[in-house]
Amino acid sequence: RGPSLVDARGRGLRDLRISVTDRCNFRCVYCMPREIFGRDHVFMEHDELLSFDEIERVAAAAVSLGVDKLRITGGEPLLRRGIEELIARLARLRTPDGRRPDLALTTNGSALRVKAAALRAAGLDRVTVSVDSLDEARFQAINDVRFPLARVFDGIAAAQEAGLGPVKVNAVIKRGVNDDEVVPLAERFRGTGIVLRFIEFMDVGASNGWRWDDVVPSAEIVRRIDAVRPLEAVAGAREGETAKRWRYRDGAGEIGVISSVTGAFCGSCTRARVSADGTLYTCLFASRGVDLRELLRGGAAASGVPGADDTALRAALAGIWERRDDRYSELRAALPPEATRDRERIEMSYIGG
Ligand code: GTP
Ligand code: 5AD
Ligand code: SF4
Ligand code: SF4
Repeated sequence: RGPSLVDARGRGLRDLRISVTDRCNFRCVYCMPREIFGRDHVFMEHDELLSFDEIERVAAAAVSLGVDKLRITGGEPLLRRGIEELIARLARLRTPDGRRPDLALTTNGSALRVKAAALRAAGLDRVTVSVDSLDEARFQAINDVRFPLARVFDGIAAAQEAGLGPVKVNAVIKRGVNDDEVVPLAERFRGTGIVLRFIEFMDVGASNGWRWDDVVPSAEIVRRIDAVRPLEAVAGAREGETAKRWRYRDGAGEIGVISSVTGAFCGSCTRARVSADGTLYTCLFASRGVDLRELLRGGAAASGVPGADDTALRAALAGIWERRDDRYSELRAALPPEATRDRERIEMSYIGG
């Protein structure tokens, strides 16, 4: 039986990605370059952010409509004060048939040593940590705040010790920057129980200067690793899964490749995203979203009651999803280069990836 709520292309609403802050303690060159996110960059004020109550209401409405996977993102989500409390609230949600939604968080790992145990205790299931290079100088050049690699690895170890797993590691591969590290990265995580996923560099945001030449196709990544450590495809992906999974033939674990550029997966995309200030986006590449905060706080309610009630919130979400028609990554291939460059779009640090 398929999901009851489907969009204009027959896709269900299954995943909600919630950004809890637009701030980050890193300045990764491909995500928050200093020229744009420098000293004078204006981040969101606290009262612009959705409160934990508001996030919980949005998540509860989404879960009641069929979402069974919640992912907390940023910016860097562990910078949001009291994040454990939000996790605890979300961990109490139940799907209409009584199951706990899968609860995950994407982080740069810098605060995991301090936070992992508390996050686990609050009910977080798992974390995904970004590691784009194993070379200390290069890692620090990418994060651009001289954050040492060893501390991220220590954070990953803390997550494993706390039982936040299986831990996944994301590596964005960009031609000429770290494509020489494909095999070393694979070797580093082989046999550790950590699932490494290679992500094709995407044209998200307006500040990363993306070009087609920057992209290292997933097929090339798989070929390079397979030449050293034979791989076989893993079947049985969950509907809407971003990564194609490959396992080492000798049983040393698996890797994933996320081919958002060379192998768009819009056809099974079941993801909605909420920015930290409460705007709902039905695509990572959307240029506009719907202001849920306005709805939650009452400006849009004509009834005189402050704010939309949960029934109205649910109806709003369902209506937005039913009209959804996005499939940017499928259309990109046919776009002229100027169109990928000049398009109006949201930043990765705003929408959380
Ligand atoms: P799992 O639940 O562990 O499979 O995680 P995930 O892959 O859904 O989440 P994660 O935050 O690790 O996403 C990995 C990366 O895949 C993101 O940062 C994006 O770069 C890319 N990605 C995720 N969702 C989408 C999507 O809907 N469209 C596109 N084009 N890329 C996506
Ligand atoms: N292309 C692909 N992935 C990106 N990320 C950030 N910017 C990009 C981009 N342009 C990744 C981060 C993190 C995840 C949330 O998104 O490295 O792993
Ligand atoms: Fe921060 Fe992640 Fe963006 Fe790097 S990629 S600046 S860690 S949000
Ligand atoms: Fe989904 Fe948009 Fe990504 Fe396609 S480009 S997979 S529709 S978020």
